[in-house]
Amino acid sequence: MLIAQISDLHIRPGGQLAYGISETNLLAEHAIHALLRLNPAPDCVLVTGDLTDCGRDDEYEIVSGLLSRLPMPVYAIPGNHDRREPFRRTFRAAGYLPSAGPLNYAVRCGPVRIVALDSLVQGESHGALLPETLAFLERALAEAPEAPTLVMLHHPPFETGIGHMDRARLFDGAEELERLVRRNPQVQRVLCGHVHRSIQQLFGGTLCQIAPSVGHQVALDLHADAPSCFILEPPELLLHRLAGNRIVTHTAKIDRAPGPFPFILPDDYPGRRPDAVP
Ligand SMILES: [Fe+2]
Ligand SMILES: [Fe+2]
Repeated sequence: MLIAQISDLHIRPGGQLAYGISETNLLAEHAIHALLRLNPAPDCVLVTGDLTDCGRDDEYEIVSGLLSRLPMPVYAIPGNHDRREPFRRTFRAAGYLPSAGPLNYAVRCGPVRIVALDSLVQGESHGALLPETLAFLERALAEAPEAPTLVMLHHPPFETGIGHMDRARLFDGAEELERLVRRNPQVQRVLCGHVHRSIQQLFGGTLCQIAPSVGHQVALDLHADAPSCFILEPPELLLHRLAGNRIVTHTAKIDRAPGPFPFILPDDYPGRRPDAVP
């Protein structure tokens, strides 16, 4: 069982660059190609928010066209750059979103349960979980206490040290989220996006993991007064693999790299040990 996670696509209207620099539409297309190249193929794909840059209808049209190229189920949640109703309209046909209220849902991917939470505060950069979202999470976790479970939401509930992103993290509901996760040891990951970097912290006794962006990354600047900057580091995706009852997570580069090359040492290799396995 393999579950891929991509995040923060920030799709723009055709021909436009994000912030005048980042070719997010092209980079998202590269991410789709990388997902299609994976062997073994993932059983489903999670998209942890900021699918669009400005929540425009023309951006949703482009992102839904891109995601529809994936043959496996795709489950998405909104980020602060999305807008709830266009998001709901765009993905309604996939059948997993509620018809009204916050975009919370629970689905199964084989033995793995995915509980998705809507942390969007419309018009704001930071996130919050409404009381009804926390009640939904409590009910959803009580329904399947034995199933290995991934909880996903866009805004991370912890400080990363990157000041300008910490001021836009999850605030209302973060403590209650941690309490619910701690009470439910079947939760093996809390998966987020938003910070455009691979970052982890223990949270409620489990691993809370922020996915890198498939587009531009947030600059690694661990000052409280760090300016809000991005950097065109190589984009990545996450692969969560269930083995037995445990999940192990890999970070994979989206761009192709030279190789793979076999670990073969010729006999005359300087420093080769005589007992080396060929
Ligand atoms: Fe983002
Ligand atoms: Fe975000």
